Amino acid sequence: MQTFLVTGGVGFIGSNFILKARQEQWANIINLDKLTYASNPQTVAQLQDDSGYHFVRGDIGDIQLLHHVLEQYQPDAIINFAAESHVDRSILSPQDFIQTNVVGTFQLLEASRAYWEKLSPQKREQFRFLHVSTDEVYGSLGSTDPAFREDTPYAPNSPYAASKAGSDHLVRAYFHTYGLPTLITNCSNNYGPRQFPEKLIPLMILHALNGKSLPIYGDGQNIRDWLYVVDHCEALYIVLKHSRIGETYNIGGNNEQKNLTVVEKICAILDELAPKPDFRHSSLITYVKDRPGHDRRYAIDCSKISSELGWQPKENFESGLLKTIHWYLSNPTWVEQVQSGAYAQWIMHNYGDREAVLSN
Ligand code: NAD
Ligand code: TYD
Repeated sequence: MQTFLVTGGVGFIGSNFILKARQEQWANIINLDKLTYASNPQTVAQLQDDSGYHFVRGDIGDIQLLHHVLEQYQPDAIINFAAESHVDRSILSPQDFIQTNVVGTFQLLEASRAYWEKLSPQKREQFRFLHVSTDEVYGSLGSTDPAFREDTPYAPNSPYAASKAGSDHLVRAYFHTYGLPTLITNCSNNYGPRQFPEKLIPLMILHALNGKSLPIYGDGQNIRDWLYVVDHCEALYIVLKHSRIGETYNIGGNNEQKNLTVVEKICAILDELAPKPDFRHSSLITYVKDRPGHDRRYAIDCSKISSELGWQPKENFESGLLKTIHWYLSNPTWVEQVQSGAYAQWIMHNYGDREAVLSN
């Protein structure tokens, strides 16, 4: 069986990818993660007795560690999920985004190049470096604009999106300059089990369950294209196995939703699954001060991955949202762990001002 080095595999998408990879026997996994605030080791605890899984705590910016890990485990592919990933945090403190997303990806590319150049001709031929990126590199769409294609010019608007755009350009350059067999995927918003509750869907689920206000930025009419995380993981595996090297693929759910609609759907499901005796969850919806530079609409044209590699999302939004809410209801210990300590400070930091401004 092949071995994949997964970076950032204690986070949301990486952990879902690893769990699927072990379940489907796609590969043995080495998981390199720095364990930032966005990770919870309990997320992958079920793999602790799996001999095909190894965890290494470390930073993708630490090149000595990377040389050592690559030498020791001899992976057949690297899948780079490691990143600072939350737009609001990138607005309040962009430094870590440049450090991990740009400098860290650069160091990972350097270590990968050194490793790849020393492989046997057969292993060199088979090796892949898959960089997991976002649709946010393309900027914002107007309501009637066509969806993002792979040849849409980059126009990132947030420090997060700019740092991911920078990392994409580096990956592209390592293919064109050094021949490193890279692949890039640009995906729309993911949702599903194990997402840190700073992002829209888990934040709204947990606030609603706790009877707290549901903070909608601006007018709630911003649009995102939502993809169930397991569909994303399957797309990544298909790209890894079947794409030509040097290619880029857009991945999306064909599922554009206004933020307000998403929150209303969550409220309606919770009214059924966890009803409150004296109010409906939608009564908690509160409009708060908008995010600076808030992108209006993202939409993905995923006809390339569909026609070339035969991938389609399997989950629809209703069934995916229901599964997601069931997961949060069934995993209170995980929820408690991620909400302890620094989480409360983040909620104060990001939301304190927004509501204060409105009530002035
Ligand atoms: P996440 O924030 O949930 O997890 C990121 C993981 O990376 C965490 O476990 C963290 O500890 C780790 N990490 C951070 N800095 C690191 C470093 N310097 N070295 C090693 N590990 C480090 O993020 P996610 O939502 O799982 O996103 C994974 C990737 O997918 C990111 O690259 C993101 O840009 C991309 N992406 C995310 C979405 C989405 O909707 N979440 C959509 C498209 C693309
Ligand atoms: P988010 O999950 O942070 O993803 P991204 O900004 O990467 O798309 O936010 C999704 C949308 O939800 C975005 O338009 C901002 C909005 N949003 C709110 O209205 N309230 C919130 O508390 C959060 C976290 C997001």
